[in-house]
Amino acid sequence: MKTDTLAIHGGFTGDSSSGATAVPINQTVSYAYKTAQELADVFDGKAPGYIYTRIANPTTAALEARLTELENGIGCIATASGMAAIASVVMGLVRASDVIIAAAGIFGGTVSLFENTLGRFGVKTNFVDAADTEQFAKAVNNKTKLIFVETIGNPRMDVPAIPAIAEIAHQANIPFVVDNTVTTPVLFKPGEFGADIVVHSTSKFINGHGTAIGGAIIDTGNYDWKSGPFDDIRQLSKRVGQLAFLAHLRNLIYRDLGGCPAPMNSFLMLQGLETLPGRMVKHCENAEKLAQYLRDHPKVCWVDYPGLPDSKFRSRVVKLFGGSGGGLLTFGLGDKQKAFRFIDSLKLAKNLANLGDAKTLVIHPSSTIFHEFLVKQQKQMGVTEDMIRISAGIEDFEDIRNDFEQAIKKAFEE
Ligand SMILES: Cc1ncc(COP(=O)(O)O)c(C=O)c1O
Repeated sequence: MKTDTLAIHGGFTGDSSSGATAVPINQTVSYAYKTAQELADVFDGKAPGYIYTRIANPTTAALEARLTELENGIGCIATASGMAAIASVVMGLVRASDVIIAAAGIFGGTVSLFENTLGRFGVKTNFVDAADTEQFAKAVNNKTKLIFVETIGNPRMDVPAIPAIAEIAHQANIPFVVDNTVTTPVLFKPGEFGADIVVHSTSKFINGHGTAIGGAIIDTGNYDWKSGPFDDIRQLSKRVGQLAFLAHLRNLIYRDLGGCPAPMNSFLMLQGLETLPGRMVKHCENAEKLAQYLRDHPKVCWVDYPGLPDSKFRSRVVKLFGGSGGGLLTFGLGDKQKAFRFIDSLKLAKNLANLGDAKTLVIHPSSTIFHEFLVKQQKQMGVTEDMIRISAGIEDFEDIRNDFEQAIKKAFEE
C-alpha cells in the first residue's frame, strides 16, 4: 500500500472483539494472567503477551506497527518523547569513551543530550558541518559508534547528503541514525537512502495538533547487527536475527530508562498519522509561499528555506524529498530587537516552542531553545541573534501573509 493509505490503515485492521475502527486506548499499567506459569512463560519469552506498559502496550503496538509500515522498516519502538527515542538509541549503542559524529545545526535538545548529558558519562561527540560530507569521513575513527543527522537541520536548514553519509557509516561498519522529524515518512523514507535507524519526535508533524509529546525508533533493516562492533547486540542477533537492536532496547535500554508513551498519547499519534499526508502538502505549500514572500520583501535581510530554487540544497531536496522543502523556514530582520517586535506584533501565528502544528508557529531560537549556549556556540550551530524560525501552519496562506505583513511593518516602527 502507498503512504497515504498506510497512514490511515497501517498496523490496525479493526478491533475483532468490538468492531471498533479507532484503535482502542488500553489505559492499563499491567496485564493479568490466570496462572503463575503463564506469566512466567511470557517473562521467559516462551509465550507471547504483554507484561507491563513500560515495556509494551497494545495501543502503542498499533502505533509502532503503523510507523514500521510507513518507514518501510522491520520494527519500531514508540517512546514518551523524541528525546527519549534519541537517548534510547544512542545509549543502546555507546559506552564510555566512545564517540558520536553528529551534524552541527541540529535541535538544541539533541546537542545538549550528546554534549552535556552523555558527556557526563565519558561519551564524546564530534559535531561536523552537515553540508560538508567530507567532514563526516574525516571524523570517523575506531572509537566512533554512530553517525547522527537530521534530514533538514533544525534550525540551520542544512540538508545533509544522506546516501553519501550512509556509505561512510557503512564503510566504517557503524550504524547511521537519521532524525526524520521534520520531513516525516510522507516526504522522505530515510531507510530507502541508506539510514539504519530512523528516529522521530512524533510531538511535531505526526501529532500535528500540539496535543501530545512522543517519539519513535524504527530499525530499517539495513544494518547487519551480526557483524557490528556491539558485543551484546551481536550476541542477541544469534537468537533474534535482524531484530537484535530493537530487542536490545525493548528488553534492556528502553525498559530500564522508562521512556514509554502513555497509551492515550499513542492514540493521539495514530489519529495524527491519519491526516499527516494531507497536512504535509499544505505545510510545505505554505512554507514555500512564505519563503518566496519573505525573499521578495524589501525589509527582510535573509531567508533560509531549502525548497527555494536558489538554495544550495535544492538538488538534494529534489533527489531526497521529491522537491518539497518541508514546513520549516528561518528568516532575519537584521537584529534581535526587530525580531522581538515582529513576534510581539503577530496576531495569528503563535509564539511558542514547538513545530509541526496545524497552526503557524514562530520562535526566536537564540533566546529560547538555544538560550543555554554561548553566542559563539550558537553561531557554530547556525543560530543568529536576528533569526526567527517559522513552522508554517495549514491556515489559508493569505491570512498568514497578512499577519506577517503587518508584523514586519510594526517591527520597523520606532
Ligand atoms: C528535529 C527534532 N528532533 C527531536 C526533538 C525532540 O523531540 P521531543 O520534544 O518530542 O522530545 C525535536 C524537538 O523540537 C526536534 O525538533
